[in-house]
Amino acid sequence: MLKRILVVALAIFMVSPTVVKADEGMWLPMFIKRLNEVDMQAAGLQLTAEELYSINQSSLKDAIVVFGGYCTGEVISSEGLLLTNHHCAYTSIQSHSSVENDYLTDGFWAMNRSDELPNPELYVDFLIRMEDVTDRVLKEVSEDLSEADRNKAIQEAIKTIKEEAGEENDYIVQVKSFYEGNEFYLFLYERFNDIRLVGAPPSSLGKYGGDTDNWMWPRHTGDFTMLRIYSAPDGTPAAYAEENVPLTKELREKNNAFYHHLPISLEGVSNNDFTMVWGYPGSTDRYLTSWGVRQLLDIKAPTIVDIRDLKLEIMNKHMNADPKVRIQYASKHARTANYWKYFIGQSKGLKRLGVYEKKQDIEQDFQAFANASKANQSKYGAALELVEEAYNETNETEKGATFLAEVGIRGTDAVLFTYRAHRMITKWMDTEDAEEKSLVLEELKSFAEDHFKNYNAALDEEQFARLYGKYQAEVNPAQHPSFFAFVDKKFKGSFEKYAAKMYAKSYFTDAERFNAFMAAPNAKKLAKDLAYVASSSVFQSYFGLSSLNAEANENMNKGNRLFIEGLRKMNPEKTYYPNANFSMRTTYGTVGDYVPADAVHYDFETTLDGVMEKFVPGDHEFDIPQKLIDLHETKDYGPYADENGDLIVNFIHNTDITGGNSGSPVINAKGHLIGTAFDGNWEAMSGDIAFEPELQRTISCDIRYVLFIVDKYAGATHLIEEMDLVY
Ligand code: ARG
Repeated sequence: MLKRILVVALAIFMVSPTVVKADEGMWLPMFIKRLNEVDMQAAGLQLTAEELYSINQSSLKDAIVVFGGYCTGEVISSEGLLLTNHHCAYTSIQSHSSVENDYLTDGFWAMNRSDELPNPELYVDFLIRMEDVTDRVLKEVSEDLSEADRNKAIQEAIKTIKEEAGEENDYIVQVKSFYEGNEFYLFLYERFNDIRLVGAPPSSLGKYGGDTDNWMWPRHTGDFTMLRIYSAPDGTPAAYAEENVPLTKELREKNNAFYHHLPISLEGVSNNDFTMVWGYPGSTDRYLTSWGVRQLLDIKAPTIVDIRDLKLEIMNKHMNADPKVRIQYASKHARTANYWKYFIGQSKGLKRLGVYEKKQDIEQDFQAFANASKANQSKYGAALELVEEAYNETNETEKGATFLAEVGIRGTDAVLFTYRAHRMITKWMDTEDAEEKSLVLEELKSFAEDHFKNYNAALDEEQFARLYGKYQAEVNPAQHPSFFAFVDKKFKGSFEKYAAKMYAKSYFTDAERFNAFMAAPNAKKLAKDLAYVASSSVFQSYFGLSSLNAEANENMNKGNRLFIEGLRKMNPEKTYYPNANFSMRTTYGTVGDYVPADAVHYDFETTLDGVMEKFVPGDHEFDIPQKLIDLHETKDYGPYADENGDLIVNFIHNTDITGGNSGSPVINAKGHLIGTAFDGNWEAMSGDIAFEPELQRTISCDIRYVLFIVDKYAGATHLIEEMDLVY
């Protein structure tokens, strides 16, 4: 009986018209009108699709920027003020910090415009427009092309499209693949690269809870930073110059561009309120197959976690021993720890939520669909077989490939620096033109200076010796980079001995030796340099990877592409959204509590009282500044308290975000800013692979906590004054 009801219920569900379900989905702004507007308005949104995304008038999308190439930022005043996460600006805050002037620890507040600090490594991109170019990209592509020829045809078409689009102004042009090569979209951006630091809370607030609370709810973190976009006096993009001015609406309009800054709401949120998040989610793998889940669970994730355990142990040791090293490695440590914990949580979630089995169910249905007709059979019949074969093959090399990336490429600073510096040195020595030569040299010098500023030889040497020792012991020798044989022959197989000599002698492992070499360069000496020997071998292996698995990669791409195409045909009533790929998306849903485990209930918001509950004096993760304790004591929350007199710190909502969304605006039904998104929750760490509607939450910092810190904690009231606060 129950089964009958289920079948009927399913049938009803399946014939109902296209309804896009809120919460899950990272939607493309240009399709909101067609796919989401009705649903969003039913959920509470009071704006139209045109007010959200328009290429004919200023719209909400004009307030959203790519931040630095890896995060999201939003414009929050008429004078270019920008909001993002503390962890997104962490590297920049670090770069201005020293033991004497430690902005990471103490925070930083520019009390006037001339104190705002330039950051040459930062930029923001405004999206001008996007366009479906699938037909043009696939014009010369037919079914019978080999994967290699198909890729060639696609690359050529993309090149032409980019060239044509690039003629328009100085836009940055991207063409990206969607649905694993089934569709293609063009994006035009305008880039501004004078981005100055305006205000950052101390890490004790901005990173409150540290790695213990990272990826977890309940959370109490003030994860925000403010910066400002500057332009040339005429409003066009320009590299840092003293004469540059804050970007304004007037300047934007003079240049025929749109400007929008988000009004800021002091209303806060209630359970079930509508929220939407706009930004740049970096990557998801929602169509990953069961074989992919197995490879991740059995090989990739445990290998990454294991290698990072060792990296973090070594970093911690050196950072704890020396305050200078603590600052030098702050950002690297945070990055390493962030994805160390991510992969631990992801594996737990995948197992607990039975994602492997769920993927198998989908694949079974797909195969039945593929076998249902001759036409289907010839098109989709072999898709999953191709994928399975490809995984069987890459399972053999996955551990080696993971070591190559985690130890070879990302493991030590010296190897990466040597690779890049060596290329620049070669270019410098080969350049004839005097003017160009001195440009290359200048670039090289500033590159080396940046590198050595955050480099500690003793730490890096220990990383090299122990990480490569692990590589040697745990990876199939057939997959070792070629210089391992040299270490065997000349150093009795000891990476410790190799490292001792490399860090004592190489031109690339010490700033003074590097500069001395640059004063009298010598190609012969370079060839024997131990850092060069290691780095050239590592990168040779790295670039060889794709040809090593060429056939498997082609099968994988083809199989996945057909799988997704088939899935969409199989369920025409369902709207499949594309995987995240660092293009602008919107996701919407509601504020909501959840049940993380049997008999446990998590509320949807946290308060400053909760910050005090977690407070551990002197702890490196849970200490807080005296000033905050005092403000809590006197309940001096100003207009930022909620109706009960509490100060809300963080809240959660069931929108669909991932890394890259960090810093994204959380916007209410009226289009007003209510927070900045900064994390996901532990129980749904498998979310990049399978969205969990009951469990998955975005963790956001309430905008009122941001304003409270700016105003009451830092006394930077001039910033509050330039914002549009609405009640
Ligand atoms: N998990 C956050 C993200 O990936 C980063 C949070 C930074 N905080 C920290 N304790 N590392 O967006």
